[in-house]
Amino acid sequence: MSEPLEFAVTLYPEPVLRKTAEVVTAFDDELEETVEAMYRLMFESQGVGLAAPQVSIRRRILVMNEEGDKEKPELNLALINPKIVERTGDKTLMEEGCLSFPGIFAEIARPEDCVVEAVDLKGQPLRLEMTGFLSRVLQHEYDHLEGVLLVDRMSPADRLRNKVALQEMIEDYKERQAQI
Ligand code: CO
Repeated sequence: MSEPLEFAVTLYPEPVLRKTAEVVTAFDDELEETVEAMYRLMFESQGVGLAAPQVSIRRRILVMNEEGDKEKPELNLALINPKIVERTGDKTLMEEGCLSFPGIFAEIARPEDCVVEAVDLKGQPLRLEMTGFLSRVLQHEYDHLEGVLLVDRMSPADRLRNKVALQEMIEDYKERQAQI
């Protein structure tokens, strides 16, 4: 038996986070192992969602568990090739964080509700109407597939408030690059 895949969270401002992710075409063991490893990392990191670019994989894969609770696998949701086909409802503000921006939070405005079409791990089509926190998580994770990040959605005031922390992340990234 081969070793299970093990990922680490890719941090801002790694360029892979800025790339548009590509459509998944192979519904094979590798996809299943990738999703399993993404769930493991999400739970270890106490996240409620994780997108493949956050593990440096440029593919359209999301995993979510709106309570971030691995004891509630019934809340696990893996979406392959998701597409938000409708966003409705008033825009509401909610504080968001992101595993690729540890310690950084910002109030982000997004429509309350959305409808997402995707396929599951077997390639079977799904259509889900989402509201509240789940809709919020989905819209955040979906952004990752388009290379859109928390920092892009922040208000100028939040960007200013987080300026030092963001600058530190950029410096840390440069240091890591210099060590390679
Ligand atoms: Co994120």
